[in-house]
Amino acid sequence: MNRPALDSFWIPFTSNREFKADPRMIVSAKGMYYQSEDGRDILDGTAGLWCCNAGHSHPKIVEAISKSVATLDYAPNFQFGHPGAFELSARLADAFPEHLNHFFFANSGSEAVDSALKIALAYQRARGKGSKTRLIGRERGYHGVGFGGISVGGIVKNRMYFGNLIAGVDHLRHTHDPARNAYSRGEVEFGVERAEDLLGLIQLHDASNIAAVIVEPVAGSTGVLPPPKGYLQRLRQICDEHDILLIFDEVITGFGRLGEMTAAQYFGVEPDLITFAKGVTSGVIPLGGVAVRDEIYETMLEGADAPIELFHGYTYSGHPLATAAALACLDIYETESLFSRVREQGAVLEEKTHQLKGANHIIDIRTIGLIAGIELAPDPDRPGARGFEVMKKSWQKGLMVRVTGDTLALSPPFIVTPAQIEDMLSILTDILSEIE
Ligand SMILES: Cc1ncc(COP(=O)(O)O)c(C=O)c1O
Repeated sequence: MNRPALDSFWIPFTSNREFKADPRMIVSAKGMYYQSEDGRDILDGTAGLWCCNAGHSHPKIVEAISKSVATLDYAPNFQFGHPGAFELSARLADAFPEHLNHFFFANSGSEAVDSALKIALAYQRARGKGSKTRLIGRERGYHGVGFGGISVGGIVKNRMYFGNLIAGVDHLRHTHDPARNAYSRGEVEFGVERAEDLLGLIQLHDASNIAAVIVEPVAGSTGVLPPPKGYLQRLRQICDEHDILLIFDEVITGFGRLGEMTAAQYFGVEPDLITFAKGVTSGVIPLGGVAVRDEIYETMLEGADAPIELFHGYTYSGHPLATAAALACLDIYETESLFSRVREQGAVLEEKTHQLKGANHIIDIRTIGLIAGIELAPDPDRPGARGFEVMKKSWQKGLMVRVTGDTLALSPPFIVTPAQIEDMLSILTDILSEIE
């Protein structure tokens, strides 16, 4: 296959110089495997970027999109509509937590987050509480790359180059505490007290000035951080007591990654808004969105001071191809019982990954749902270099892993088999024994 010139594409979140010197080029995908340009099968240990939950090129999704594009390529959802967006919303309302029955569509996780923050602010104003404007995120949170998302997010590099961000944002401490919680399975034992940080911020600003708190139920992008036992419940309780909205960013955890439709259902904590993206279409077509509690939607409709109740939306909000892909995906999740597969294969992944304990460089292993985080001791002079080397060597040996800093993450498609999990871990075991 002829490789195109590499110079013009500015590759996101990547060292362009390193990649262009030694590209990892993917040309096709089917089921659990990618194919590289040199004809090798690459086992997908990460579901792309945590999104291809149903496996690659699923024939039912391909068929749904092909049909959709031939029937209705595009329809505006401003002032007009098409049945797919309504049908998808109704299906999601049935599947999401009880009181979250209204759905706003965007195109990505970043847009979903910014939409949720805007809905939270507009809702507070619509109910006569316009002083509630402050937003609270968390250290090590990843909420995409919009200005709202990086402002409530807690990753230094994603924030430090971009000026003043949005005003009026505070952060809870993160919950990562390896000294007490190393080698965890499921929720971690210690750290519930960190939810009390929220009370400190309420004391500082007064709840009358705070609109919403946003957290990932399991922080994914900063290295797989499951919540401490009782932590999400305690955040919910404090938000209830102080009339603050709770937003779960479920861009990774939504659509089955923990074996339930949402992490909210998995942990038994109902937030006021849920952001989602990725798995809603199995990553095939960009789609993100916000699930909204009934009371918020109803207040916005009743309290509107203009015919349009929310001055927000995207040209592609609820795009017909995206809604067709999502509807096909919901069918697949159901008919192929993929969420119960997550529970079964999650147990295998947990067992096998924890067997790596004691291998060269490993300092922690964290597992939850169909996710495993494997943390390596950083090379003191070059933090992140060891993780990066493992990622590169994995590619050479036919495995895609995700790396953030020196933490490797495995989050395969839900169709993964025990033998494929075994393959992933034996490749990683070999690599760990080789690297300095
Ligand atoms: C929790 C969370 N929120 C938001 C995002 C941003 O999603 P996107 O890259 O689709 O904008 C991500 C992406 O990984 C995420 O993990």
